[in-house]
Amino acid sequence: MIPTKNTNHRSWPSHLTAAIVLLATTPVLASAQDDGPALSGQRITQSDITGGTLTLDEIRAAGLRMFATPFNKLDGYGDGPVDPANSTEPGRRPTLQDNGTFLRVNGLDAQTCMECHSVGSNATVPFTFAVGGVGNSNNNVLFQPRFVDVEDSAGNGYADFDGRYINPPFLFGSGGVELLGLEMTRDLQRRLRAAYAAPDTDLPLVTHGVSFGSLRYDSAAQGFDYSNVEGVDEDLVVRPFGRKGEFATVRGFDVDAMRFHFGMEPVEFTGPGIDHDLDNVVDEVLVGELSALHVFNTNLERPEVRDWTPEAETGLGLFSSMGCAVCHVPSISTYSKGLPYRFPEVATAPQLNEFLRVDLTQTAAGFDPSPGGGLEVPLFSDLKRHDMGAGLAENFGSPLDREFITARLWGVADTAPYLHDGRATTLTEAILAHGGEGLAARNAFAALGTADRIAVLTFLKRLRTPEDPAQDLLQ
Ligand code: HEC
Ligand code: HEC
Repeated sequence: MIPTKNTNHRSWPSHLTAAIVLLATTPVLASAQDDGPALSGQRITQSDITGGTLTLDEIRAAGLRMFATPFNKLDGYGDGPVDPANSTEPGRRPTLQDNGTFLRVNGLDAQTCMECHSVGSNATVPFTFAVGGVGNSNNNVLFQPRFVDVEDSAGNGYADFDGRYINPPFLFGSGGVELLGLEMTRDLQRRLRAAYAAPDTDLPLVTHGVSFGSLRYDSAAQGFDYSNVEGVDEDLVVRPFGRKGEFATVRGFDVDAMRFHFGMEPVEFTGPGIDHDLDNVVDEVLVGELSALHVFNTNLERPEVRDWTPEAETGLGLFSSMGCAVCHVPSISTYSKGLPYRFPEVATAPQLNEFLRVDLTQTAAGFDPSPGGGLEVPLFSDLKRHDMGAGLAENFGSPLDREFITARLWGVADTAPYLHDGRATTLTEAILAHGGEGLAARNAFAALGTADRIAVLTFLKRLRTPEDPAQDLLQ
């Protein structure tokens, strides 16, 4: 049984008002009105954070500023002149008809993170605003398309597309997800050393109840045999973020988001004082600013279960018996309550370079403590990559085209459209689109009678996004 919370969902206008008040009263807008850099006078350094003079809420507020401030060219927004040798990478990309600002396709596609991460619920009419929420279809990222066949010149009945078309997820609860991923990585790295110490033996790679296959050190070949490793990269670093499982931490994702969407180059990417994109601005995003953004993102409220009913309980039972819960593991506990913030981050050694630790049961993140002294993370995922079959595959030309990290289902009632590209407008469509490793469970769902199907949907519709995330910072 899952803990429930019965509260009424508030309507959109009050949230929108809060956002307008935020924008109207913070100094952010005042400096933008002066046509200086939007962040003018508000830069936060890493020593401001490590020096202990700022409270956690002050760091979060600085992070919200990074998330919601519309950067302009004086902040370093934008790329430099096109690099013909590498024109798809952020920094030196083409813009639309030489307008020097946007293209939309492959980046320079927004001025704030909020533009894509701002919907708390799509189950209300109109949709509910929320800082850090999902994006709708018009916010989809179009990553590196080189070819879009809008006229169906191939005559195959659909528009071919060879980029990635990606629907924005929410950032709620990301602190618990990151902590779980770091703990899994630490365990798997220990298994790697154990396999080396016991050559020619298959060592199971199990952590937090999830199996990533097994690993063997082959003494004759003098190397690891990765052929039975499942759902994780060969470096055994669990990467929960990005639908393909590309980033171990939110910070890692944020560095790339700044570069890709805005051409804002973090110092930790360029080095201090270096104008890597040749736009005449250096130190566009300071290490401290990225730390604040990371702290803000990872302390956003977590999704929650609301309005639980006996029918929902029946649906959860069916969800388990059909095999959905093998991938969508309802809840995983961590060992620790504290999320370590590290700089620089070393992916294979999560214990290094910690500068701050935040107990996620004590902040807005609001995780429940687990009996073992850690957190309960009710994420409905195994943080593992799965082959989802040809129907869901992307056409990007990557070996991972068919593979996706198990979508976390917490909050799923509010986040249509579904699946990595938002192709499914209902939960039923999303479930019926499962193929590959998800095919057997999909077929079990398809075979259910009407009442049982409704029970499964009733259960999924109890998995809600948080109400009023980051509200304390908006007032
Ligand atoms: C143009 C829309 C857009 C903008 C602007 C945008 N994002 Fe995203 N964001 C996305 C999409 C789409 C994804 C999913 C990417 C994927 O799955 O590979 C995503 C994913 C993420 C994730 C990973 C979430 C997860 O659970 O996997 C984080 C963290 C994130 N964004 C942070 C940011 C931050 C911080 C900014 C501003 C610097 C930002 N985003 C700006 C669209 C956007
Ligand atoms: C083999 C692992 C696996 C199994 C089994 C599985 N899923 Fe999934 N599920 C995934 C993956 C991976 C995705 C993301 C696919 C994508 O984005 O294209 C997903 C996506 C979803 C989504 C869409 C979530 C969103 O936010 O877009 C729903 C709903 C869902 N699954 C429900 C179910 C149900 C119900 C079952 C059982 C009938 C099930 N899944 C079985 C792996 C699995």
